[in-house]
Amino acid sequence: MYANPATAPSRTAVTVPQLHARKQAGEKIVMVTAYDASFAAAVDASGIDVVLVGDSLGMVIQGESSTLPVSLDHMVYHSAAVARGLHKALLIADLPFMSYPTREQAYASSARLIGEGRAAMVKLEGGGWAADVIHALAERDIPVCAHLGLTPQSVHKLGGYRVQGRDEERAERLLADARAVSAAGADLLVLECVPSALAQRITREVAIPTIGIGAGPHCDGQVLVMYDLLGLTPGKRPRFSKNFLAGHDSIASALQAYAAAVRNGEFPAPEHSY
Ligand code: KIV
Repeated sequence: MYANPATAPSRTAVTVPQLHARKQAGEKIVMVTAYDASFAAAVDASGIDVVLVGDSLGMVIQGESSTLPVSLDHMVYHSAAVARGLHKALLIADLPFMSYPTREQAYASSARLIGEGRAAMVKLEGGGWAADVIHALAERDIPVCAHLGLTPQSVHKLGGYRVQGRDEERAERLLADARAVSAAGADLLVLECVPSALAQRITREVAIPTIGIGAGPHCDGQVLVMYDLLGLTPGKRPRFSKNFLAGHDSIASALQAYAAAVRNGEFPAPEHSY
């Protein structure tokens, strides 16, 4: 019945309950972005647990200056391509900007990412207000990854891509948002560009696994944008990223080095954290 692992879990595939179990067992979760079948297959072969089709594709694939122009059609197209390259890793796809402002729109958009894009989980940005949407999706058994901290879809409101939750009041707000999305039924929580100590506190307090990017070493897992990991991103390297291709002679060994560094606690080091 479950002939195609891209559409249903195989016996060896990473599953949502397994991710919860990893947190309980203290085993790190390794995640990376991918946008096409070839990179997805390389990630899968490296033993990385989760592949994210991020709306970062707007910047690294499409050359835009933000994720805001990315459409649901773009996300579905790239998610379906990535799914064809995967056999084991769990596939998460981003709900793009304004594709989930209401429960109804979130249902319709998630249905496309899961049905056509073959994703096993959808990711959405936002705290308090998003809890209602997360609750609605979770009630329908749609796995959700929440995303807090630096939420790139809010770049104009935030005034740029900068570290969030540095002062006490904002840190408390972030903690409250983390509690809210967890209580609403999210399965994972990405924390982007938040101080290590705050990410550690959130990781201790919420029941769901936290996945950091620029959030220090204490999260339950880590995610990087593929092109940052391979040193391909033009301009200044973001502080939180590391070029794992340096010193390696193939993309496969760079991906394996990244996975090993996350699992043995070497990455992120203090110089990658805030
Ligand atoms: O879009 C993306 O790639 C992301 C990661 C940076 C977490 O949201």
